[in-house]
Amino acid sequence: MFKLAPSILAADFTKLGEQIALAEQAGADELHIDVMDGVFVPSISFGMPVIQSIRNASKMFFDVHLMITEPMRYLEEFVACGADGITVHAEACNDLKATVLKVKELGVRVGVSIKPDTPISVLEDVEQYLDRVLVMTVEPGFGGQKLIPACVEKVTELAKHREEVSATFDIQVDGGIGLSNVKSVWEAGAEVFVAGTAVFRGDIVRNVRAFKEEIGVAD
Ligand code: DX5
Ligand code: ZN
Repeated sequence: MFKLAPSILAADFTKLGEQIALAEQAGADELHIDVMDGVFVPSISFGMPVIQSIRNASKMFFDVHLMITEPMRYLEEFVACGADGITVHAEACNDLKATVLKVKELGVRVGVSIKPDTPISVLEDVEQYLDRVLVMTVEPGFGGQKLIPACVEKVTELAKHREEVSATFDIQVDGGIGLSNVKSVWEAGAEVFVAGTAVFRGDIVRNVRAFKEEIGVAD
């Protein structure tokens, strides 16, 4: 099923609550929350206080994408401040399996993300536990970049692999997703689409609806 997950990284933070409400009313399926630590990725975004504060203003599924080194250190805190799902980077974990199992133990949905140069084989030991695999379609760290076409091939490969091993995770893509490419990435096998710039720049309601119309799932 097609899902759109607007990334608040591209929102106007002076109107954050208002903009999230617009995205939700327009039919956004999840809210994508990018946490960056300045170590795993070069930039720093925001953390628990922001998530806690928007939690009081929205009922949407909070999809927290941790671009942080050793996320194991903070899992409890992200759950406590309102995450419904946590995605960690395979490249950021010393013990990926232990990290995945810890997220599950905390009772939220668990995802693993891979950067453009990371092969899907790193998922081997954990794929049976996962609710989601996030295939980054840009180098993580910044919004507003252009999608890397080779990453779409990785989506195709992953969808085929998922069938072969009878795994049940959904496939999410993140980075450079817009109206010009969403259909081809959907056809490649992705189901959950993160979009920052393409949702929050301009008319939010119209942008969300345009995505759904493009895929043919508009209400
Ligand atoms: C990038 C983040 C993305 C980002 C996407 O590291 O993980 O979620 O917000 O932004 P756009 O859609 O503008 O590429
Ligand atoms: Zn993200």
